[in-house]
Amino acid sequence: MNASQTTMGGPAKSGLAAFETFHALPIADKIAFLSRGRELAHCLFAEQFDKPLLERLIRLSDHLRALTKTKEGDDYVASLLSNKRAMLYFSQPSTRTFLSFQNACHILGMKTCEIRDPRTSSQMKGETFEDSIRTFASYVDLIIIRHVENNFAEHAARVLHDTHRPVPIINAGAGTFQHPTQALLDVYTMNRYLDGGIDGKTLMLVGDLKRGRTVRSLALMMRLYRGVRLLLVSPPQFRMQPDVLAALEKGGVRYEETSDFAGALSEADTVYMTRVQDEHDVAGESSAVNIASFVLRPEHLARVKPKAIILHPLPRRDEIDPRVDADPRAAYWRQERNGLWTRAALMAMMFGLEKTLLERRA
Ligand code: CP
Repeated sequence: MNASQTTMGGPAKSGLAAFETFHALPIADKIAFLSRGRELAHCLFAEQFDKPLLERLIRLSDHLRALTKTKEGDDYVASLLSNKRAMLYFSQPSTRTFLSFQNACHILGMKTCEIRDPRTSSQMKGETFEDSIRTFASYVDLIIIRHVENNFAEHAARVLHDTHRPVPIINAGAGTFQHPTQALLDVYTMNRYLDGGIDGKTLMLVGDLKRGRTVRSLALMMRLYRGVRLLLVSPPQFRMQPDVLAALEKGGVRYEETSDFAGALSEADTVYMTRVQDEHDVAGESSAVNIASFVLRPEHLARVKPKAIILHPLPRRDEIDPRVDADPRAAYWRQERNGLWTRAALMAMMFGLEKTLLERRA
């Protein structure tokens, strides 16, 4: 979906041409816009992270996790942003991204408000996209956005840039494009549970790689690690899009595309399962795709390496048999909880609290 299809309220007219010019820039040319010195001004794309930034985020996530184990530490952390407010604008369904962001805000002491059903907002009265975004920013210090449109969050950040309240924007899932904070928690999870970390490991991405925004963001982040190999396992209809493959090639990441799920399993250090993203179907086309051979069942577990981990961004349907949950390599429930710490760490960094937090002993 392109910028001109921004659907909030009436058609977004003013500033649209400027946004389209901005949007067409390579992400490398947007880094100054996305940054505030060493900190992130906005979190919109996987590509805006470099390795030192990821390492800082992992360290701060671990530290927050440790600090909040005691009431004293938890109270201290909750005092740090008690003068700030965050808005969650989630116009697409969400359980864990919404709840983990909301609770991460509360861990940092931020008050939260939300719009989850835009039909209850004044966009139903014809308010323009620009006016709605400016209105959100009038009341809060951070806006966290999930939206069906690929460029909605970026467009919001660009609109606010030229106003007197350029509050930070976080992309919490954008159409079929990206889900960068999911990739952050996935990287944190792999770094935490894989013996020796992520460098040199084989990551198997399984399912709807064509429209899965989590796998797109995660694949892009893998360019930051040495010697990572990607096994892209999907039915032919759900292959990874050429833009991500081109970025992997440019970044020197080895990848193989295959439909041999069972064969790839024995090579993977991380088995990352995903569901069919049929909410993006145009005419029910997913129903014609046979995914029966892309389901992880108990009989597959003997093929999985003893020290491998099994991940899923969740929610799942039937691509992981629930009997797999009891296997110690099944890490998706821990992965889900890790989102609390990585999202809290991300927001703490965006508000310049990294040093203050690290100076506080856990
Ligand atoms: N992983 C993820 O984005 O889950 P939700 O859709 O429940 O937020």
